Amino acid sequence: MEYSQLQQALLRLPGKAPQAIVDSIFVPEFLNALGYDVNERVPEFATVNSSEKVDYAIRRNTDKDIFIHTKSKPYLLIELKGRDINLSENSNHYKSAVAQLKRYLLAPNCQSVQWGIITNSIHIQLFRKHGKVIHPCLPCLEITPDNVDKIVQLIKAKIDTPQQALTVAIYNNKGGVGKTTTTLNLAATLAFLGKQTLIIDFDPNQVDLTNSLALKPKEDTLYSWLENKASTSVPAGLSFRLSFQIPSKGQIAFDIIPSDQKLMELGEEELRQHIKITRLRQVIEPLKSRYDYILIDSPPNWRFFSQSALYASDVVLIPTKHNNMFSLENAAVVIQRFIPEIQAKRNDGGPIALPIFYNGEYITDPQRRTAQKEIDKIIEKARHDDVNPVDLTPYFYPKYTPANQNRHIFDIPNYAHIAAAMFARIPAVYKNRTAYEHYLALAKEYFLQ
Ligand SMILES: Nc1ncnc2c1ncn2[C@@H]1O[C@H](COP(=O)(O)OP(=O)(O)O)[C@@H](O)[C@H]1O
Ligand SMILES: [Mg+2]
Repeated sequence: MEYSQLQQALLRLPGKAPQAIVDSIFVPEFLNALGYDVNERVPEFATVNSSEKVDYAIRRNTDKDIFIHTKSKPYLLIELKGRDINLSENSNHYKSAVAQLKRYLLAPNCQSVQWGIITNSIHIQLFRKHGKVIHPCLPCLEITPDNVDKIVQLIKAKIDTPQQALTVAIYNNKGGVGKTTTTLNLAATLAFLGKQTLIIDFDPNQVDLTNSLALKPKEDTLYSWLENKASTSVPAGLSFRLSFQIPSKGQIAFDIIPSDQKLMELGEEELRQHIKITRLRQVIEPLKSRYDYILIDSPPNWRFFSQSALYASDVVLIPTKHNNMFSLENAAVVIQRFIPEIQAKRNDGGPIALPIFYNGEYITDPQRRTAQKEIDKIIEKARHDDVNPVDLTPYFYPKYTPANQNRHIFDIPNYAHIAAAMFARIPAVYKNRTAYEHYLALAKEYFLQ
């Protein structure tokens, strides 16, 4: 049997090789296998300044721009560790390596970066950056001489694909927290900012979205598309382009796939018989090259529609209410139970939860403190859970560190124009400046770099 260069490199590596040895033996062959030339690699790339250096920045050369000379517009970052560092998922070293990579990916000199890798030549994981969002694209994989070539091909296929839409499920298994309102106004805001945006109304029992835009639910187009196992091509008439004339801005448009009558009528059992929860992800795959964002509005309850929506998404955005304990407890359940359940089926590390936000209520300072106490209890309970102990802090208090104790939670306040617009056939953000500013802040907080 003939070994590839990369396999040979791996076989040559001493068991506990420190970073410098992994760097000189494994990395050159790894980058060759990914198809990057020597002058397409910059070692010790300064992400901010000389104290924040990532081990490698990578980008393809163009005729005029040789990356090793210009060092501009990096595309991929690699944070390297030695084999003496344990990078298996959930080890402390793994967690700090991921945190370090995320910091670099979001650093000022890395705006253009779309991918990040951590590896020590025993484990490897690929992350994607889309705007501000960083999410895993593969689980943390164990590398062996037998699978190394296959793993590199997997990674290469992903990073060679042009930028694809970020798919966001808007979900909380509590109703009335603002899922539909968020979906619509966030989509409208992203479209306003020039992003190609698609909404999928995957809450056929409410059809709030479809109704609020005065669209008539179709008879069975969406159902047929999902049910037809043979086809992933998008049937004509499945999606609508919604155009709005905005004073001083002109035409703004985004697309929507409305719900349909048939999905509304069929019961849970029948749906499951005909459509797997993996199907929505499969059929939207070819749409991802056409959009920057695909937002999926999902119903409350952990059933066919919401399971399909989470299975189809890269990230899950969870609206809650500070004064509704159930919405906060449910957010914890989504993060601690439902998302891991889907992750186990997906096997690419996704989806992941974005930090929760408060929606649609006026908050006084005493109320904020009361909510904090409740959340602190929820976090404490999750930490000591028998089945899946997790630290929910980053999902409730994304800015928190033991040093700063920052418990800030983003919020979209109660705003009458937002509620009224549900019946106005036009997103609130296109009618009202303040509404727009609230959702622009949401888009910036979570998505835009
Ligand atoms: N920020 C807000 N300010 C005022 N009203 C809101 C706001 N967000 C949502 N609402 C209203 O709250 C109600 C429930 O919102 P909705 O988006 O339908 O929730 P869900 O989809 O989670 O069931 C709707 O009447 C909506 O207009
Ligand atoms: Mg809804």
